[in-house]
Amino acid sequence: MPRLAVIGFPVGHSRSPAMQNAALAELGLGEGWSYGAVEVPPEGFEATVREIAASGEYAGANVTVPHKLAALALADTASKTAREIGAANTLTFGRDGIQADNTDAGGLLAALPGTPSGLRALVLGAGGAGLAAVWALGEAGASVEIWNRTPARAQTVQVEVTARAEEFQVEIEVRTIEVEPQEGAAGRLDQRGYELIVNTTAVGLRGEDPFAHLPLDRHGFRPGQVVVDMVYGEEPSPLLGAAAEAGARTIDGLEVLVQQGALSLEIWTGREAPIATMRAAARG
Ligand code: ATR
Repeated sequence: MPRLAVIGFPVGHSRSPAMQNAALAELGLGEGWSYGAVEVPPEGFEATVREIAASGEYAGANVTVPHKLAALALADTASKTAREIGAANTLTFGRDGIQADNTDAGGLLAALPGTPSGLRALVLGAGGAGLAAVWALGEAGASVEIWNRTPARAQTVQVEVTARAEEFQVEIEVRTIEVEPQEGAAGRLDQRGYELIVNTTAVGLRGEDPFAHLPLDRHGFRPGQVVVDMVYGEEPSPLLGAAAEAGARTIDGLEVLVQQGALSLEIWTGREAPIATMRAAARG
């Protein structure tokens, strides 16, 4: 009876159990496999993972905020992408120990309408999600610019990504951009110049106005742009609402979640993931 789970803190809001259990049922694995949620604070993370792995009951787990760095650190082996990004969101428990993967990068790329190669891309945010997005887009050949409220963090991501690119001998074009803040807004940048804009900041999670916190203009989007907002909730985010109104193509965080979940499921089961079923369940 292989079990799976998402491990995070908190995880109560996660759509992964609904999405993955629907997928397992669709694949005819619903009798044997199951996917749950394990909430554990940082100080208990390693012991919990080792316990789960040693139990013999679990095939693997997704790992989410704030455990992605710790997940890579405790693994016995890690995929190239996980090592490149320096974080893991997928663990597999096997005879050879704990294997770490990162499907966040592949999930973001799969959610895009086409390859970002050659595109000018803007990544907003320099947390873990920002770093993964910069790496994914940069390695796929986009020219990436990164903005963060605290510019020093964006610089750190740039330095880190550039150093890892050298280490792994991949070519990544990334630079930090700073914007002079304005009264009541984060300032403005040349928004129309980007073909791809990805928001990885937490802005919008608590209903804040994204245009007061991000250097974007509500009326500054254009057709032909692709706009991704990792934030997701019941309603389309105000950021994506404004982008769609201008004729830009929009992708929400749930679609990225579905795509990363599909890649994780394929790692654990070796089966092709039923994307449409997962999408319907995640949105359910
Ligand atoms: P994650 O690993 O999920 O990306 P994180 O490390 O907490 O999470 O990062 C959250 C991101 O949201 C950061 O880029 C943060 O900016 P700072 O580095 O300046 O803190 C960004 N963020 C959170 N609240 C914000 C706000 N009100 N305005 C602008 N950016 C915000």
